[in-house]
Amino acid sequence: MERTSRREYGKSSLTILDRSGLFSGFPQDKISCWMSHSDAATRLPGDMSVLGVSENSPFAAVQTTDGRQFGVQFHPEVAHTERGSTILSNFVFNVCGAKKGWSMSSFLEETIGELSTRIEGRVLCAVSGGVDSSVASVLLNRAIAEKLQCVFIDTGLLREGEAAEVSKFLKEDLGVPIDFVDASEAFLSALRGVLDPEDKRKVIGRIFAEVFERYARRYGPFRYLAQGTLYPDVIESGHSSAPASVIKTHHNVGGLPKDLSMEVVEPLRALYKDEVRSLGALLGIPAKVLQRHPFPGPGLAVRIIGEVTTEKLRVCRDSNKIVEDELVEEGVYNKVWQSFAYLGDDRVTGVLGDERKVGYQVTVKIVESVDAMTADWYRASHPLLEKISTRITNEVEGVVSVVYAISSKPPATIEPQ
Ligand code: XMP
Repeated sequence: MERTSRREYGKSSLTILDRSGLFSGFPQDKISCWMSHSDAATRLPGDMSVLGVSENSPFAAVQTTDGRQFGVQFHPEVAHTERGSTILSNFVFNVCGAKKGWSMSSFLEETIGELSTRIEGRVLCAVSGGVDSSVASVLLNRAIAEKLQCVFIDTGLLREGEAAEVSKFLKEDLGVPIDFVDASEAFLSALRGVLDPEDKRKVIGRIFAEVFERYARRYGPFRYLAQGTLYPDVIESGHSSAPASVIKTHHNVGGLPKDLSMEVVEPLRALYKDEVRSLGALLGIPAKVLQRHPFPGPGLAVRIIGEVTTEKLRVCRDSNKIVEDELVEEGVYNKVWQSFAYLGDDRVTGVLGDERKVGYQVTVKIVESVDAMTADWYRASHPLLEKISTRITNEVEGVVSVVYAISSKPPATIEPQ
């Protein structure tokens, strides 16, 4: 394995040399695939043969001559790899001989059964209004209702109207037991002067855990802490058994103190977002809630580059609302993965009437994705972008310029930090 001078990030082309085994049933000998590497194997062991090559990797797909071991350098699991799921199912069903026996309703039944036998004490579950924690809380309520207590912590970094919405759809409509705690002061003061994104996540994770523990001591004892962690959080936080380095310490996986005296329960940790949405539908959660765009645990703090100030928070929150509202209005909200606005400390010159006015520059980002592991920028219509831009500069005090983000993931990540 050597570092190669040319990196391959994003879309690449794979030429298939052998259309049996992994590539059986492929009508063509070229597919587009998603690469993310800056090194490549330069030599193969004697008992391996090459199944496919890409522009910068002569051994992009390989197998041992006995047909029992395979290696690919591209990502078959992402939506941007053409027929990637066929490659995986060829491996699982043809090579390994596994049988199909998994469905979302069997997962639901098994998880309810497993939770109700395993959980022996009271469970404290954090809910944020997002899809993941909502599904996790409704699932737990179904499995162990009398042992469950949920808590919604207002970090002061949330989207407009979040607490009220959670109260309506989770508590009133679905009967999930939730207490609301306003801890915004604690979060905002701990974030003062913190500039580095990873430090922000750690600070937020720490305060989160502290507020939790305080709540738990007061209303406990609770034996378990439940979270809506998903599989991409597990991989990207470097907590799976795979040797991935840490991309971002998503706080719901990485930031909890080691001495936390509760056992962690993560009933969704094997699922991707689209699977969580199907599970939510089976649990009777309304489509409007399930289709909500993902929102990061550290909230608007990762959409504010540099220090989180009250003024930047106001600009960020109001601009985010305009972006989401305009996408709903245009009928494209449910077609994209995520839409939001972010800003930093850059000040650009604008003009108001005859006067020079220096103000914030807000970046609007709308992305398409299937699983958040890769993403592409959304080709939004010009009238939609114009409307968003005009509304933000007209309605959000202090903003004089709006730009649109046009980078895919990789090399960018979805959130700016
Ligand atoms: P990135 O920015 O890593 O985001 O491409 C992938 C998905 O994860 C969300 N995200 C987070 N979620 N805590 C979370 O709970 C975090 O710290 C965090 N950072 C990113 C992001 O919104 C996207 O959907």
